[in-house]
Amino acid sequence: MLTRDNRIVLVNLIVVTIGATVPTGFEHTATEEVNEKIGVDARISKDRGRIYFPITTDKLSQVHLLRSVDNLFVVVKEYDSYQFKDSKEETLMELQQLASKLPWTNALEVWKLNCSLKKKKGNRKGGGGTKLKPNSETSDAVVADTEEQAPPEAVAAAEGRTNAENTPDTEACTQDSEESAAAAKLIKFRVTCSRAGDKHSFSSNEAARDFGGAVQEFFQWKADMTKFDIEVLLNIHNEEMVIGIALTEESLHRRNISHFGPTTLRSTLCYGMLRLCKPQASDIILDPMCGTGAIPLEGAIEFTDSFYIAGDNNDMAVNRTVNNICHIQKRRAGKSSASGLPIDTVRWDLCNLPIRTSSVDIIITDMPFGKRMGSKKRNWDLYPSCLREMARVCRPGSGKAVLLTQDKKCFAKAISRMGGLWRKLHTVWVNVGGLHAAVYLLKRTGLVFGQAPEEFHESPGKADIQSEEKGDAELS
Ligand SMILES: C[S@@+](CC[C@H](N)C(=O)[O-])C[C@H]1O[C@@H](n2cnc3c(N)ncnc32)[C@H](O)[C@@H]1O
Ligand SMILES: *[C@@H]1O[C@H](CO)[C@@H](O)[C@H](O)[C@H]1NC(C)=O
Ligand SMILES: *[C@@H]1O[C@H](CO)[C@@H](O)[C@H](O)[C@H]1NC(C)=O
Ligand SMILES: *[C@@H]1O[C@H](CO)[C@@H](O)[C@H](O)[C@H]1NC(C)=O
Repeated sequence: MLTRDNRIVLVNLIVVTIGATVPTGFEHTATEEVNEKIGVDARISKDRGRIYFPITTDKLSQVHLLRSVDNLFVVVKEYDSYQFKDSKEETLMELQQLASKLPWTNALEVWKLNCSLKKKKGNRKGGGGTKLKPNSETSDAVVADTEEQAPPEAVAAAEGRTNAENTPDTEACTQDSEESAAAAKLIKFRVTCSRAGDKHSFSSNEAARDFGGAVQEFFQWKADMTKFDIEVLLNIHNEEMVIGIALTEESLHRRNISHFGPTTLRSTLCYGMLRLCKPQASDIILDPMCGTGAIPLEGAIEFTDSFYIAGDNNDMAVNRTVNNICHIQKRRAGKSSASGLPIDTVRWDLCNLPIRTSSVDIIITDMPFGKRMGSKKRNWDLYPSCLREMARVCRPGSGKAVLLTQDKKCFAKAISRMGGLWRKLHTVWVNVGGLHAAVYLLKRTGLVFGQAPEEFHESPGKADIQSEEKGDAELS
């Protein structure tokens, strides 16, 4: 249980289970990354979009550096098949009783350890510790077309039980040591419940409220929906139930993007797409419809042996990409290890790329779905000319493309008209902002561009001539 002083005892390493939400469809990618970087085996939850893995507490800071995870929590208790009672009253009563019986100690130790990590990080930046930002403040609305992991009924509740005294806004996680005793008294918390499954007699709201009330009574914490130190998670999926404590304050997918656009893709999904095409040293990697640049930026940060070219035909998109790159360059320039990101930005029309034929190793892009961006009708022209121009610039025999789209019908039709220039190797089904989308891994076949008989319109060779005249990309 929480001690009254904030000292972290480092002698005894404890083993805990970390839970992570990941973009649905890329669970396997996440387990691979955990294995590579933390050295442990992760398991994929039945509830899609989640993985679990054991760590010793000395690995905690490494967990925060994973690129494939959105939100992290430490598991208090997992139930594989919790027998919920039939009646609502009985179930809620049981949840209340559970609060005092759960093995909270280790999870709370990890939460405290995480606070001390955060403080250290804050001090290094020169600030006296970072402020706790309530999750509700993050501007999810700005990030369209990204998958928000909120399951059908994600709500937070606990406030009903608060005696609304006006206590000062001390934040337990950011206290100086003299104030820590006071802080321990004033720990604020909330319970966030997400529930999925149709056999429950109760709502997530009711579960959060009743469980939260019991947690409050047990610990003598103060419920606060927005300015909380501890977020207790109650995840219920059919008969599975997991109780955890959050270790992230906002989803990690935002970490390296500062200028968001209407369809900014979450960096964690970008990471999954990048891993699909396995970038190699000196690969030239193109995102011809880069939007805010989320994909090539994630590549330039994480797979630094390749070179990325980000292009878009929209001025505002190109500006946002440039701004996102500059923001990171500036942040890096402050540190000793300043080095430029291997990325450049161009304004172009992807149907007519200023790029030499057969010169690109990997094309990776997020195509307009035809909902928020473009239209389904326009996709019928855009997709074929896009796949064709991509086939031209991509190296025959070894080139690859990883393409995300929700307009699967149009994509399938377009690919079938490419005269065998592309071969589909693999499909990953993903959820992007609630839309059922697909990530296609394509391989560029050995066929020479412009010679296949039934290729999509235009006379063969024309594009080659154009590209010879234009030469290399005009990099801005
Ligand atoms: C789904 S968005 C990409 C979002 C991006 N992944 C991000 O994270 O911001 C599709 C992009 O394709 C661009 N686009 C549409 N038609 C294009 C064309 N003919 N040439 C270049 N870009 C195009 C749009 O301007 C838009 O930014
Ligand atoms: C845990 O630590 C990480 C890394 O220092 C920090 O970014 C995060 O906000 C902390 N989480 C909480 C809930 O304080
Ligand atoms: C990306 O964001 C993380 C978390 O804020 C930060 O530690 C890292 O340095 C950033 N990467 C770059 C290249 O700036
Ligand atoms: C893009 O940025 C440049 C310079 O920062 C500015 O002159 C231009 O007006 C911007 N374009 C748009 C469409 O915002």
